[in-house]
Amino acid sequence: MSKLTVVGSLSTDFVVSAEKRPEVGETIIGTDFKTTFGGKGANQAIAAARLGSQVTMIGTVGADVFGQEIIVNLKNNRIDTTNVESVTHLPSGSAHITVVDGDNSIVYIPGANNAVTEEQIVSALNEIEESDLVMVQNETPLEIINILVELCFQRGIKTIYNPAPAKPIPEELIEKVTFLTPNESEYNILFPNLSLSEGMKKYPNKLIITMGSKGVYFNNGSKEIQVPSYLVEPVDTTGAGDTFNGAFAVASTAGLDIETSIRFGNLAAALSIQKFGAQGGMPTLDELKGSDFYEKEWNLK
Ligand code: RIB
Repeated sequence: MSKLTVVGSLSTDFVVSAEKRPEVGETIIGTDFKTTFGGKGANQAIAAARLGSQVTMIGTVGADVFGQEIIVNLKNNRIDTTNVESVTHLPSGSAHITVVDGDNSIVYIPGANNAVTEEQIVSALNEIEESDLVMVQNETPLEIINILVELCFQRGIKTIYNPAPAKPIPEELIEKVTFLTPNESEYNILFPNLSLSEGMKKYPNKLIITMGSKGVYFNNGSKEIQVPSYLVEPVDTTGAGDTFNGAFAVASTAGLDIETSIRFGNLAAALSIQKFGAQGGMPTLDELKGSDFYEKEWNLK
């Protein structure tokens, strides 16, 4: 079983379902409202834990009922929460999500997710050093991402940086991560002057671009590879990218090559979007048993 550390956001998702998105100044009547667990960091941690990795979470919640429930949910998913701290000066992070026809739009309020400190990272150094891989996303302050990536780079620890939501990041940081996993629109913000193919060629076996139903692309050093998605009817795409990242991390630390790890990520993501909520459909390894992938590729590793 591989060991992963995830540094990232812990949030509550407030999810409204509706038949359309309201125009500016318009009020519409929605069809449902639910509160679910989210945060890109927590989602990726839970995706990996359900697929069998031993996961440590580093993050921060507010001293409120949401924060307490977020920690209980992590524990229920077998995640080590020793390094999740609670702060009193900010509320727990939240995401305000509208789902229309299975697709989401999100307003993220960082709250306590912005309070992660360098001290927290340093005090979890043992866990980080024992990890096969460390994951981070853009719902954590860039200053902390820099510190974390540098620390892992110096020690030769593999990293996945999922640059979501998109913001420009320094090239020096990109050089130091093992895998960078933007979606297409995040890619365009990161690399406004490079076509997809140019970017993948510049960062072979590092830059992995997720393109929804069009599949996942990377360059293996000699050619561009497209790994097709499993085409399914989505109920809710929220957390698809997180499930992909968590599953990719599990497969890659289990020794599978990049292309096969992407296929595993795609399979997990396809299952996850068939249920409601970011974490609602994330599969367990048991649920994958019987699938072609599990029988032919997972058992062969
Ligand atoms: O990637 C999906 C997640 O991003 C949601 O769970 C929500 O918390 C948002 O920030």
